[in-house]
Amino acid sequence: MPDSDTNPVPTTLSMSTTEGLPSRIAEPCVIVLFGATGDLTHRKLLPALCRLAQSGQLANQYAVLGFARRDWTHDRFREEMASSIASHSVISGHWPEFARHLFVSQGTFDDLASFEALKVQLDAIDQEFGTKGNRLFYLATAPESFAQIVENLGRSGLIYPANSTGPWSRVVVEKPFGHDTQSAIQLHEDISKWLTEAQTYRIDHYLGKETVQNILALRFGNTVWESIWNRSHVASIQFLVSETVGMSGGRGAFYDQAGAIRDMVQNHMMQLLGMICLEPPGDLSADSLRNEMVKVLQALPKWNPEDVAQNVVRGQYTAGVVDGEEVPSYTAERNVGPHSTTETYLAMRLTLENWRWAGVPIYFRTGKRLPKRTTEIAIQFRRPPAALYEAQNLHGDQGANHLILRIQPDEGASLFFQAKVPGSRRRLQEVHMDFGYSGTFAGPPPEAYERLLLDVILGDQSLFTRIDFVLNSWKFVTNIMKTWESQEIKPLPYAAGTWGPTESEQLLTRDGFRWRKPS
Ligand code: BG6
Repeated sequence: MPDSDTNPVPTTLSMSTTEGLPSRIAEPCVIVLFGATGDLTHRKLLPALCRLAQSGQLANQYAVLGFARRDWTHDRFREEMASSIASHSVISGHWPEFARHLFVSQGTFDDLASFEALKVQLDAIDQEFGTKGNRLFYLATAPESFAQIVENLGRSGLIYPANSTGPWSRVVVEKPFGHDTQSAIQLHEDISKWLTEAQTYRIDHYLGKETVQNILALRFGNTVWESIWNRSHVASIQFLVSETVGMSGGRGAFYDQAGAIRDMVQNHMMQLLGMICLEPPGDLSADSLRNEMVKVLQALPKWNPEDVAQNVVRGQYTAGVVDGEEVPSYTAERNVGPHSTTETYLAMRLTLENWRWAGVPIYFRTGKRLPKRTTEIAIQFRRPPAALYEAQNLHGDQGANHLILRIQPDEGASLFFQAKVPGSRRRLQEVHMDFGYSGTFAGPPPEAYERLLLDVILGDQSLFTRIDFVLNSWKFVTNIMKTWESQEIKPLPYAAGTWGPTESEQLLTRDGFRWRKPS
């Protein structure tokens, strides 16, 4: 499929025996991993590729090639990589077969000759595995190397002209795409010298999660929601992404430069916001969907410094207890400066300035070292207009219907509503209807990276972030970061194992709401 297609749609289908439904099979290709010895490759990419191979979705004509600094033989590289799979008992039996397709290429990102050698190697792999010249380059490296790698891929002729009708080359760019608006524009300019938008796959693994895709299915595969999915019926929306983890594995070095706003808000939470708030797209093609996603971000408020101070709360954890274990403060973590002012928590209140959502408060809350690992979205509907029942509280969130979308863990959805308590009195009690993935569908949903890697190989960009989305998101976030800097707004302390600084409560109480206790 030529990359000149603006809206490539997966075309290769075969019949899966398990469900009697067509499953998607990858086109022949070589997957080149930059950052082959890194954490992401170990934890996510290799297991995902191995599982795709095991399930037959990666047809036999594939190879995986790690680009690494170390001068390893293919066998040595396979030994190193075997540990990534060892803990995945379901797929480890497939490893010997997968390892036959695994190779290494020695080189450094700044050395053009390494890329020329890579090209020779790739041509030889094409001969051996019938991979037809198709190339997926995955940039799982430090972001500082993205532009350099793309340039050397371009210079060595590894990126085909976008309008070619022959084999394809596609580049997957990991997050973060820049660290503010200016750097994102610069990175975009640098890589656009060599790549078109149709060849660029900016990955955000949240979009690969089944439960995130299910937001669209819930909204557009049903009729009950759409008529109430607006400011006339929705009172508020809460997005919660809470984590119990801190800075394990030396992650502080990266995180201390990023903070919660760059690490979670600019990307994952904005994607969730887009999915919940977008207008119905004409179809589910990549550009229809992404056109609507970007319109949501264009409706974000334009805040002055006072608005930022009033609507955003930054926090940083101090020592505390999480899951029964004592944990150190953020500033005592490895690779974090003792006087760091990076936020590990962010709560925010915003409204979208558009027809559907004007005036509906939208709350974000995310943080490390919170009491529970949960990602969920709570949509609170407006209360009934009059209290007909005993003790029916028509204040705050009591008595209101809630739809809770549980993104993870315990994936599913619940609708909370009022029912009459049996007996002669007219009393109400909140009850709920539940849907859970585990009790409904066989087996766990596929890992996000599996789905996304297959999408790249099939040329489907629907679940990848287009540059205008990235830039609109940075515009909003950069304004907040600049205000923090100019107004010297420092993070407020919260003890690890609590739900963040108490100041974050006020974002809601002034609207008559409160944070919903996660399920
Ligand atoms: C990553 C962030 O993008 O997402 C991490 O860099 C975070 O800090 C992770 O822990 C969360 O992903 P998930 O899938 O566990 O919610």
